[in-house]
Amino acid sequence: MQKIMIVYDSESGSTEEASLILKGEFEVLNKHVMITKVTNDIDITGFDTVILGSPNWFGKVTPNIQDFIKINAHELKEKKNGCFFYMHVFNEDEG
Ligand SMILES: Cc1cc2nc3c(=O)[nH]c(=O)nc-3n(C[C@H](O)[C@H](O)[C@H](O)COP(=O)(O)O)c2cc1C
Repeated sequence: MQKIMIVYDSESGSTEEASLILKGEFEVLNKHVMITKVTNDIDITGFDTVILGSPNWFGKVTPNIQDFIKINAHELKEKKNGCFFYMHVFNEDEG
């Protein structure tokens, strides 16, 4: 069975919520999914795919996700990877 790791950062909870929805969608497809908030000591060994979820901070992923990518750069190159951004979309009332 394909093993997927979702690593996310989230300050106010939106990216965490999106990550949990994504996890559920993969599980419907019978994938084994591990989900974790980003830290510097996550072991991605044994996972076929790593998906990173991050809030958009000034057009970039958060510093924590940047650190995770730097620390795991070598292993990430060997895997299938995905990345999604979560951002606040203003409506007309908010100006
Ligand atoms: C420090 C900081 C910088 C941000 N920069 C941007 C930005 O450049 N563009 C944008 O659309 N949203 C920006 N946002 C809004 C976040 O992307 C948005 O609130 C996101 O939903 C937060 O995700 P979270 O609930 O998982 O923390 C910023 C938020 C913070 C706290």
